[in-house]
Amino acid sequence: MLPSRAVNLHRLPHFRLKPSCTSAYGKASCSRLVLGIETSCDDTGAAVMDEAGLILGESLHSQKEVHLKTGGIIPTVAQQLHRENIARVVQEALERSGVNPGQLSAVATTVKPGLALSLGVGLDFSRSFVRRHSKPFIPIHHMEAHALTVRMLQPVAFPFLVLLISGGHSLLAVARGVDDFLLLGQTLDEAPGDTMDKVARRLSLIKHPRCSTLSGGQAIELLAADGDRRRFPFRTPMGQNYDCCFSFAGLRNQITMTIMKTEAEEGVQQGALLSCVSDIAAATQHSVASHLAKRTHRAILFCKAKGLLPACSPTLVVSGGVASNQYIRKALTIITEATGLHLLCPPAKFCTDNGVMIAWNGVERLREGKGILPHDVDVSYEPKAPLGVDITAEVKAAAIRVPPVKLKITN
Ligand code: KG4
Ligand code: ZN
Repeated sequence: MLPSRAVNLHRLPHFRLKPSCTSAYGKASCSRLVLGIETSCDDTGAAVMDEAGLILGESLHSQKEVHLKTGGIIPTVAQQLHRENIARVVQEALERSGVNPGQLSAVATTVKPGLALSLGVGLDFSRSFVRRHSKPFIPIHHMEAHALTVRMLQPVAFPFLVLLISGGHSLLAVARGVDDFLLLGQTLDEAPGDTMDKVARRLSLIKHPRCSTLSGGQAIELLAADGDRRRFPFRTPMGQNYDCCFSFAGLRNQITMTIMKTEAEEGVQQGALLSCVSDIAAATQHSVASHLAKRTHRAILFCKAKGLLPACSPTLVVSGGVASNQYIRKALTIITEATGLHLLCPPAKFCTDNGVMIAWNGVERLREGKGILPHDVDVSYEPKAPLGVDITAEVKAAAIRVPPVKLKITN
């Protein structure tokens, strides 16, 4: 069996700029430069990057605080906040990089998938920007960008397996090239971050003194560390489905029923904090981790059976906001150790939505000359856009049984 290790990617590559490459602004290199713009959900992000993957300047405006208060993302609110911030965020990224629009080689912007109203703001802004400055436009698929971000941090050769888990996504895919993906499985209902956000809201964790500023997933991880997961043995979802798809809605229903029952037992009204929130958090986190681990295990076995990953040093990349959960990472480490894969998790900053990952995707496309459009071509956004070629039916037909693996995780 191949040795397995979990690697945290904490360092960006440092490329020294030759003085002769330095622009009048002091920082920009002589290589081609890409401006990346992200507005697909609730983060307004922009970054300027050179062709070597060096981040020259970036800016990010997060709407998290607003959405935490309203109890979820309201698309019109997200749209308004993107509108209010996009020009400033782009301007800041340009200023911090010391690059003026004329020096850019292209503008890369997320156009799919995401919230229609949010995508529209980024696309409208980018369309007028590229027309004004006569710059090529590179439309970006948000999930492809998540999947490829790891390659900005260290060389990871194609093909590799990728698990993307966040508030909006849950999928397993094989990345075979910059624009070549095989979709092995995705969520049938909601994403794990969404589930944890909703459970946290149902538990009113915002009222917990240690959780008031945390996202639902962060609050659950924090409280779970002191909880006893065995007190609430939730069923891991989809035990009888031998594919790589995910489902979290049924699990959330189990959790909600348990919360209601416990409220009744404790004589507590909905909206007040239960005495056993840590135990519920621990059980929730364990069930989510266990579901993710099982589907990922099957995806690894499927890839091995079909020869989809290299025999030497096969890699699993895990990204998205939920990937910063240490308990989930440990569960996935147990699976990669059992199957001989390397596990790579970009640091949290690069797991979540930002302009940098979009700029990097633009760089990868620019290098390969793929998907670069003239400034006057009309591009539309696509709220729903599958990632790559969907082979979920083939995965289901293979019906691979996953051998039992004990997820013994200590905090
Ligand atoms: O990638 P992201 O910033 O935005 C998208 O959803 O696209 O991910 C945010 C999600 C939220 O649902 C949040 O609750 C979850 O990631 N999250 C976590 C943790 N940190 C953030 N979930 C579990 N454990 C965490 N430590
Ligand atoms: Zn995302």
